[in-house]
Amino acid sequence: MGKFISVTASPPLCVRSKLLCFSLLYLFTTLSLFLYVSLSRNQCVFRYSPFDPIQTKNFSYPSSYGEHKYALPTHRSSCSSPVFFSDYWTVLKEIQSICSDSSSSSSSENLRYINGKSETFGGNFSAQKRFSYFNHSKNDVEVPCGFFRDFPISNSDRAEMEKCGLVVASAIFNDHDKIRQPVGLGVKTLETVCFYMFIDDKTLNSLYHHNVISKNNNPRGSRVGAWRIIKISKSESLYVNPAMNGVIPKYLIHRLFPSSKFSIWIDAKIQLMIDPLLLIHSMLVVPEADMAISKHPFFVNTMEEAMATARWKKWGDVQGLRMQMETYCEHGLKPWSSHKLPYPTDVPDSALILRRHGVRSNLFSCFMFNELEAFNPRDQLAFAFVRDHINPKVKMNMFEVEVFEQVVVEYRHNLKKIETSSYEQQEEEQKQESLRTIQKRRKWLDHESWSLNTSSCKSYLMDMWGESHH
Ligand SMILES: *[C@@H]1O[C@H](CO)[C@@H](O)[C@H](O)[C@H]1NC(C)=O
Ligand SMILES: *[C@@H]1O[C@H](CO)[C@@H](O)[C@H](O)[C@H]1NC(C)=O
Ligand SMILES: *[C@@H]1O[C@H](CO)[C@@H](O)[C@H](O)[C@H]1NC(C)=O
Ligand SMILES: *[C@@H]1O[C@H](CO)[C@@H](O)[C@H](O)[C@H]1NC(C)=O
Repeated sequence: MGKFISVTASPPLCVRSKLLCFSLLYLFTTLSLFLYVSLSRNQCVFRYSPFDPIQTKNFSYPSSYGEHKYALPTHRSSCSSPVFFSDYWTVLKEIQSICSDSSSSSSSENLRYINGKSETFGGNFSAQKRFSYFNHSKNDVEVPCGFFRDFPISNSDRAEMEKCGLVVASAIFNDHDKIRQPVGLGVKTLETVCFYMFIDDKTLNSLYHHNVISKNNNPRGSRVGAWRIIKISKSESLYVNPAMNGVIPKYLIHRLFPSSKFSIWIDAKIQLMIDPLLLIHSMLVVPEADMAISKHPFFVNTMEEAMATARWKKWGDVQGLRMQMETYCEHGLKPWSSHKLPYPTDVPDSALILRRHGVRSNLFSCFMFNELEAFNPRDQLAFAFVRDHINPKVKMNMFEVEVFEQVVVEYRHNLKKIETSSYEQQEEEQKQESLRTIQKRRKWLDHESWSLNTSSCKSYLMDMWGESHH
């Protein structure tokens, strides 16, 4: 104690050593910044600094477009594993250096894809054939990864896309959503990151209708705020189901943007609230992950998700869902409880997907797409099966729902349909609607009607239901 007093009684340390003085100053600044982040409203997302150079340019829509109407409330107020974002300038430099590092894209490391033509975009492979590619121990083996038919975008769009080094992409098909602008972008982000929104004819007509895009301009090269709009023409080579066309850019993003080292996919129902560079840095670069994706808010079991999908009529073809689950059980879908860490859940919320493009994540994305074509565009059901059966394994960072809710805002899909659909489209919708009502009457997968004796999923279901079910 006496010693301590004698030290403080002499001239302040600070005066004696400039270095110490600066260190102390730094310590206090850091401490106060730490207090800043700790006391800020968001408890799952900690920014390094209140002085991050955020761009304040606002984009405004014609009032009839009303892009902000239906935000969904979030209920979580605590967070078990918060995410820390580093300083914007440090992140920018680090990511720019990764993107310009050509050694990380040597051709021996790239996946090779099967080329050719087929009756469907994904090649219509049998289950046996699809799964035969899962063990990818030799990189010279070509894998199936879509594009067995033309992807109908213009050559100028394609050329632009191929130059992009870091992409944020989204898609709106069937006028299902509104275009939402990313919020909180750093001042250099729009120069570093390209934002691409894929839309079909029906969505484009709606944008014309609301004067979001002027009809006089060629839609090629047109922008809406941060987004560059890419029109996907109506084409025989695509799928009848618009949702299936939406998963082409969602899962084959690494093929549409072959130069990009990282990508962020966001479903059009959500709005990005954090700078994409910060997200990529904190969720991929720092944890050295290949992919980052949110956990599902309710489910950990693939089968729970399948049942909910059937029950809530999110996918009408119940027989198809059952066949999908049976196929996976037959080929070794493991109950969630039998997993060893590091996989905390089998069901993602795939509205936000961050990827580091490379063999592992590209392989995962290709094989996911093949499953979606084979069964249905509901991508949560194939997730655990593909993740657990591919080799090399993808390093998956599955983050908490609380984090998801603070890096994006979720909106409802468009509720009212505007009258832009052509006669054929209306006819197609009516067909799908009546198909849905027929299928609604079927029941699937309740405890009584599921015939466990003949199901390949018997052990999975017994495990999931536990001993309480008899
Ligand atoms: C941008 O919009 C926000 C809120 O929407 C507002 O607070 C801010 O002042 C606007 N900035 C500019 C430059 O108009
Ligand atoms: C896909 O292949 C199956 C046979 O494996 C065939 O029955 C089906 O018609 C094919 N689908 C298309 C769209 O060609
Ligand atoms: C994958 O293939 C390699 C060589 O062909 C083999 O040694 C390895 O055991 C296989 N891995 C799995 C999980 O089947
Ligand atoms: C299923 O198998 C059990 C015996 O393993 C049998 O007792 C039961 O009757 C069978 N149920 C049906 C519906 O076949």
